[in-house]
Amino acid sequence: MLKGKARAHTNIALIKYWGKEDEQLIIPNNSSLSLTLDAFYTETEIYFDEALTADIFYLDGQLQDEKATQKVSRFIDLFRQQANCSLFAKIQSTNHVPTAAGLASSASGLAALAAACNQALQLNLSKQDLSRFARKGSGSACRSIYGGFVEWQKGTDDQSSYAISVDSQHFEDDLAMIFIVLNDQQKEISSREGMKRTVETSSFYPTWLTEAQKDLVAIKEAIHQKDFIRLGEITEANGLKMHATTLAAVPPFTYWSDQSLKAMQVIRKIRKDGRPCYFTMDAGPNVKVLCQKEQVSQIKERLAEHFAPEQLIVAYAGKGIELIEMDV
Ligand code: ADP
Ligand code: DP6
Repeated sequence: MLKGKARAHTNIALIKYWGKEDEQLIIPNNSSLSLTLDAFYTETEIYFDEALTADIFYLDGQLQDEKATQKVSRFIDLFRQQANCSLFAKIQSTNHVPTAAGLASSASGLAALAAACNQALQLNLSKQDLSRFARKGSGSACRSIYGGFVEWQKGTDDQSSYAISVDSQHFEDDLAMIFIVLNDQQKEISSREGMKRTVETSSFYPTWLTEAQKDLVAIKEAIHQKDFIRLGEITEANGLKMHATTLAAVPPFTYWSDQSLKAMQVIRKIRKDGRPCYFTMDAGPNVKVLCQKEQVSQIKERLAEHFAPEQLIVAYAGKGIELIEMDV
């Protein structure tokens, strides 16, 4: 039996990935930049076993249906091909993050699975190659291979599209992200579906691409200069631009709920009162607040005037993939 176990953390994009040039290979239309976080993660173990007659996939202890298992099987096939292995596998994964709720379970989930496969099949893939493989499971997963600030360089083909670690002189250690969990149920329009509709129908999409390119250059400068205010301003503006594209899609849609709007207003007010903090949102109603570590308790206190304690989760910069020792 061949086995491997790995942990990967989620990441939240400060410059969003939104839209694919190649849907099969998951080559994006724009480069993106994220922060890997410690609070949410996935642990996955995989056993390739001669005794199995099909792949079996357990997520959070629950045997998954055919559709979910097929998705995972197709991803594992990439590793089986590379290793010239035809064994079926049993996969056991635990998400320490709500699944499919806009809290990036796909990023940590697919990155952990990639690292577990790499270990089990003894492929010895470099981080760059592991990032390329993870990308083919879910785009944002390619960034969860690394800790701290990460840039996914869009590239032009399978070989050239992967993430790299951003040299930040430990700027990420000064930062925190407070998650305002407004809804942890599965979202109606997945990121995959939402970005596809936007690329195909939104008249704002071409503008998004030019703006995302400019924002990426600017945010890397802000990271280099350890300029938190600039980092926050660019993050918030970029997220808003991404969400604006969905309003011009046909049919139009939004991931925002009334509670998301309320959260944005609260954050703007806290900022106006002199505490720097900035929001970003992904393909769901939850709001993430970027702030400096030293301000976390005061900002959380202000947020707690509007949201229940269990809705507020504080995360700090997290590590890249880690292998986990398995019992014999
Ligand atoms: P999220 O906001 O949580 O990333 P998505 O809809 O983008 O939501 O992705 C959720 C999908 O990611 C799931 O339906 C499943 O296919 C995949 N996924 C999530 N967690 C795991 C996991 N631990 N192992 C394998 N795949 C996972
Ligand atoms: C809004 O990586 O979930 O969170 O590549 O189709 O699996 P697929 O999409 P996914 O999209 C993430 C979109 C986003 C922005 C981001 O994380 O960059």
